Amino acid sequence: MQSIIEVQHLVKSYQQLNAVNDVSFTIPKGGCFGLLGPNGAGKTTTIEIMEGIISASSGNVLYKGQAVNEHIAHEIGIQFQHTALQDFLTVKETLDLFASFYQKTLPQQQLIELCDLSEFLDRDSRLLSGGQRQRLLLALALINDPEVVFLDEPTTGLDPQARRNFWQLIKNIKSQNKTVILTTHYMDEAEQLCDYIVVMDHGKIIEQGEPELLLKKHFGHVFIYLPVEQVPDDLVTQNGWRIQDEQIEIETDNVEQTISLLIKEQVPLDALHVKSANLDDLFLKLTGHSLRE
Ligand SMILES: Nc1ncnc2c1ncn2[C@@H]1O[C@H](COP(=O)(O)OP(=O)(O)OP(=O)(O)O)[C@@H](O)[C@H]1O
Ligand SMILES: [Mg+2]
Repeated sequence: MQSIIEVQHLVKSYQQLNAVNDVSFTIPKGGCFGLLGPNGAGKTTTIEIMEGIISASSGNVLYKGQAVNEHIAHEIGIQFQHTALQDFLTVKETLDLFASFYQKTLPQQQLIELCDLSEFLDRDSRLLSGGQRQRLLLALALINDPEVVFLDEPTTGLDPQARRNFWQLIKNIKSQNKTVILTTHYMDEAEQLCDYIVVMDHGKIIEQGEPELLLKKHFGHVFIYLPVEQVPDDLVTQNGWRIQDEQIEIETDNVEQTISLLIKEQVPLDALHVKSANLDDLFLKLTGHSLRE
């Protein structure tokens, strides 16, 4: 595996607070790398050090094996968590303005197609909807045809449909052999997009790896749910069975065997549903609290 960025023992301290506390990981070239964690986990701080925007208190970031220097600005694109757009410019004028900052740029038509901007090119950029604005910001991050694109919570605050549309754009970018580095606190987003994830909480890495392998490692089982009133009390005392939000939650690595038992005990199965563990469950397991608390 060829790596594009290596982060080694990164620390960022603000007075008493270690916003990033000894974080190390390697980002493979190509594909989508996800930095996950709740508010204040240290995601933005970590990627802003990687982008060369802020300096670390200690530790190193290597870009293609070299210390980050000013040349990185030409090879990366950044979509910040909060960005102010220039007032009184249309979307097209905004693209023109940003293109003028770089020597090498992606052809504008290609950018418009890639980020699906054609229907609002002449609109004042302040009047865009949330999803349209994020698409414009993505286009600005791609304007210099970067090898690496940093996206800091690009879908936070978008409605589900706008999020799905945005995911498709990110998949398009991935298919162009660019490396996408994404922060998010949406686990479903990470499952959809990321080939490798680092999960942070309170400035530290609590787990990292390929999402599927992490789920296999932590959950060799699936969950079965049934309405609490339909299951006899004595069954619930078994290992892996518990009451959760008015439902019986059964954690099992053998669905057939569990369902056979339920049939034998004449438990009605019409309201039964089966769910495999997802990254939200993983986060809950690792930290003891859910990501959105
Ligand atoms: N300039 C600063 N001065 C002091 N504390 C800071 C500064 N920047 C960040 N912090 C603190 O560092 C911690 C990590 O912040 P960071 O912005 O990296 O979190 P995050 O994971 O990006 O969170 P979010 O999901 O809310 O964007 C937070 O507790 C934050 O308050
Ligand atoms: Mg942030």
